[in-house]
Amino acid sequence: MRIREAAEVTQPPLASQKAPSGSRGAARNVGEEMNALQSAGMAELEGLEFGKSDFVLLDEVTMEQFMDNLKLRFEKGRIYTYIGEVVVSVNPYRQMDIYGKDAIDAYRGRELYENPPHLYAVSDAAYKAMKRRAKDTCIVISGESGAGKTEASKYIMQYIAAITNPSQREEVESVKNVLLKSNCVLEAFGNAKTNRNDNSSRFGKYMDINFNFNGDPTGGHINNYLLEKSRVVQQQEGERNFHSFYQLLRGGSEEILKSLHLENDPALYTYTREGAAAATSNNDRSNHKAVMSALEVIGFSKEEIRSIYQILAAILLLGNVEFGSDGESVQVLGQDTVDHISELTATDPECVTKGLLYRTVATGGGEVIEKGHTEKDACFGRDAFAKALYERLFGWIVSRINGIIEVKNYNPVLHGKNTVIGVLDIYGFEIFDNNSFEQFCINYCNEKLQQLFIELILQQEQQEYQREGITWQHIDYFNNQIIVDLVEQQHKGILSILDEACLTVGNVTDTVCLDSMDTKLAQHPHYTSRKLSPTDKTMDFQKHFRIRHYAGDVTYSVEGFLDKNKDLLFQDFKRLMYNSADPVLKEMWPDGQLSITEVTKRPLTAATLFKNSIVALVDKLACKEPYYVRCIKPNEMKSPVLFDDARCQHQVAYLGLLENVMVRRAGFAYRQQYPRFLQRYKMTCEYTWPNHLMATDREAVEAIITQHGFQGDVAYGHTKLFVRTPRTLFTLEQERATLIPILVLFLQKVWRGALARLRCRRMRAIYAIMGCYKRYKVKAHFWEVERRFAGVRTMPDYGKSVEWPAPPAALAQFHNITTMLHRRWWARQIVKNIPPSDMLEVRAKVAALSSLSGERKDWGIGRAWERDYLSNARDCPQTSSAFIRVSKELKSKDGYGQVVFSGFCRKVNRFNKSTDRALLVTDKYVYKLEPKKQYKVLKRLPLDSFTALSVTSGTDQMVALHTVSEDDVLLCLQQGELSPNQDRVGELVGALVDHFTRIRKGLLPVKVCCSVLQLHMRGKPKNVTVETKPGQTAADFKKSRDGFVLLVPDK
Ligand SMILES: Nc1ncnc2c1ncn2[C@@H]1O[C@H](COP(=O)(O)OP(=O)(O)O)[C@@H](O)[C@H]1O
Ligand SMILES: [Mg+2]
Repeated sequence: MRIREAAEVTQPPLASQKAPSGSRGAARNVGEEMNALQSAGMAELEGLEFGKSDFVLLDEVTMEQFMDNLKLRFEKGRIYTYIGEVVVSVNPYRQMDIYGKDAIDAYRGRELYENPPHLYAVSDAAYKAMKRRAKDTCIVISGESGAGKTEASKYIMQYIAAITNPSQREEVESVKNVLLKSNCVLEAFGNAKTNRNDNSSRFGKYMDINFNFNGDPTGGHINNYLLEKSRVVQQQEGERNFHSFYQLLRGGSEEILKSLHLENDPALYTYTREGAAAATSNNDRSNHKAVMSALEVIGFSKEEIRSIYQILAAILLLGNVEFGSDGESVQVLGQDTVDHISELTATDPECVTKGLLYRTVATGGGEVIEKGHTEKDACFGRDAFAKALYERLFGWIVSRINGIIEVKNYNPVLHGKNTVIGVLDIYGFEIFDNNSFEQFCINYCNEKLQQLFIELILQQEQQEYQREGITWQHIDYFNNQIIVDLVEQQHKGILSILDEACLTVGNVTDTVCLDSMDTKLAQHPHYTSRKLSPTDKTMDFQKHFRIRHYAGDVTYSVEGFLDKNKDLLFQDFKRLMYNSADPVLKEMWPDGQLSITEVTKRPLTAATLFKNSIVALVDKLACKEPYYVRCIKPNEMKSPVLFDDARCQHQVAYLGLLENVMVRRAGFAYRQQYPRFLQRYKMTCEYTWPNHLMATDREAVEAIITQHGFQGDVAYGHTKLFVRTPRTLFTLEQERATLIPILVLFLQKVWRGALARLRCRRMRAIYAIMGCYKRYKVKAHFWEVERRFAGVRTMPDYGKSVEWPAPPAALAQFHNITTMLHRRWWARQIVKNIPPSDMLEVRAKVAALSSLSGERKDWGIGRAWERDYLSNARDCPQTSSAFIRVSKELKSKDGYGQVVFSGFCRKVNRFNKSTDRALLVTDKYVYKLEPKKQYKVLKRLPLDSFTALSVTSGTDQMVALHTVSEDDVLLCLQQGELSPNQDRVGELVGALVDHFTRIRKGLLPVKVCCSVLQLHMRGKPKNVTVETKPGQTAADFKKSRDGFVLLVPDK
């Protein structure tokens, strides 16, 4: 029924895959039972010995069967039963072990039909709807006084608190804590023992809990409705005043009571006397402690708590104020009490006395006069003051709690949609022996709520079937709109008549007002009075009228109606309180600010204010997705075993539960517009996935339904599909849930493919660009090389000074080759111009250059290399001719081809003997000649026997010629006449190396030593160092410890 909306389930019940255990009722027609259960799709976990867990499963929908089932379940301890999604609850009047942590876990996140009926299941459904579909929801708890509404609301709050904030965030915990604790405070100040209920709520409460997108409570708001304040000054026989008074008197410490001028006996105070002896299940003393600590936890300051108790004390003392009259003027009896009141309210005692005895009146001319009260007026004023004090205290406590739990810093953009679950626990329908204005208001409120229930559950549902063209057997129900109209209709309704009477100047009494009602409402079928039905002795003339409420007939006593509706409080009290030095008290009385001459406008009457607040409440509820808990009171004795058939049947009847079952039975649990249904389930059918080819969405939906074989369980409306049982939907949801991962994979596959292709195209483009760019770089390099080297042929240095452009990486090798090519070409150009006669010298120099590889600084590159110095007349003017002769002889004798090098040298032998010698190196032999003896050959060594050369890096002229036989030749070249400081080492090295490499195609390694030159003589290693010696005229060898020292002159 209410699934009308719940239908728009957008989340699959994935969590609810728990297999139903099936019926445990053994000896029955199991198949039939199962069918019934399945068609209802409801809780099948309990055995049928406990009755039917959903009234929809009744064999026949009759009052008899309904009551039998209700009674059976009550007797079996099953206090909850469903009608679809509505929970019917019977007050067990005993502690039930069904609210623990296990139960919470069992219901958390489950579907309604997975567990036995429970408040927790509806709470969870409301919470799920709120969280999954971001719907504001409300849970409306109704039933008469003592039926268990307040208890139910507490369990609901408890459940919501338990399942939220799994991450234990501190700020959420504190909100939850305040929400839970506020109950304790509100009950202390707003509940009282009545003859119906020991803990009867004497105010209506609607609490909104705000949730963030996470589903965690972020705050809340409490609306309170019409506190029954007349209870403060007077209670019916056997009833009590509000709990708070008894809690203070019985639970307050001696010290506190003393400071409040109180004593710990409620019998001492007029206002609590009636209830002083009443036995109750409440423990006032321990409750007082709990309330004190709750106030602290919620966030009331010490001063505020103190003020609260001072106000309570002032009210109690006010009740004990008595007046006496000496016939002339009225006096307060007992100044002490007045003094205490003024102390507790932080006001001036004289003003208090004055307020109690006089009223200030503004005359027409703007003058202000003080008018003394009669004794009766004084008592009336005192009581009105006490009631107002208490009412404002209660209102202030509620607003203070609201201030604390209100959602702060809320930003919908940042925090997502703020959703709300409302819980309504409002006074139930009441019939007392003496029913007054309060009962009238309360019962009117229940009429309004019943209207809402009818609207949502019975009327809208049936209207929708009609609208959608679904074949529908209309179900009759009693529509209480007529009673609502009786009360609230403009001009004709009881409220209007009351208000009119209050406005009329002059002595309009309650009886006059009753007369007026009798006249105006005589024809109304739900209104009567003794005057209208004179034979009915249950009513008195001029006192009673009766309304036939949807829940039963209630006879109201009109006495006090006008006063209560006017809710008169002398302005003087308001000003007195506004001027209190206690800031808390002052805050409660802002209207005391106005001076007497300013107060002109008539305030709205109590009934009108109440009506307005109830209309606002109904509007608030109507825009939310409602969940219902219908409470039933099994008996009047608060007995856990008694099931009073008549009483219960009466409640079932007026709550319209039977009609509810009928509509539900005939109705459809789920409905959805075709396009949305299709969108959600199209993947479960081959004809509709991914898109259908049918003419309309409706046909496509039919295809889905037919494919699954659900034809029997649905009806096709004009725009919507109607599904009878939740199980059908559940099956569809399950199938959808199994398909979703496959679809996700499919989508992932397609998307990944698209991504890969995109990446691939990008890479290709990148490579194309890179290729072009590389080609461009290569070409650019070529162009640049071409540009720079275009004129090298005509350049004086053949382009040697032209700088090569940096090549791109791809051309590194090419670059090396081209630079080499250019260098070769360049060299060729240089070499080409050298005359052949110079070639030998050039080659020798090149060989020396590479052999010495830069390690010897001075090697004579700058001078002309003459080679054969001994035969050079300029170098050796005296001996050259002699040498030329000798060399000719040797040439013909040994057959050498050419002289590689010749010159004088100083030589040392293995006996450390150093002598001057001539050295002749030819292409066949190396000769050691004695210059002094006509160049006699002293030694002739084949050129082949030389393997390497060693020289130093210095300027000395020492050369070691290494031989194969490790009998090396060590000598120091000497200069001739040509130039005294010529270096000839380079020339010898160059000539020999060139000869070896070019002619002999062999190798002659050259070692350039930095400090010590090593060689062998007759196989023995020798080290040679060079030392400068002052006074030395020519270089000469000397023996050293491990070889020789070449002493050179100091230049
Ligand atoms: N679920 C329940 N479990 C146990 N006792 C309950 C339950 N519901 C109600 N009662 C008893 O019934 C009394 C009246 O319930 P309450 O909720 O105050 O009624 P209402 O708010 O409808 O007037 C409670 O004080 C409690 O003793
Ligand atoms: Mg209650």
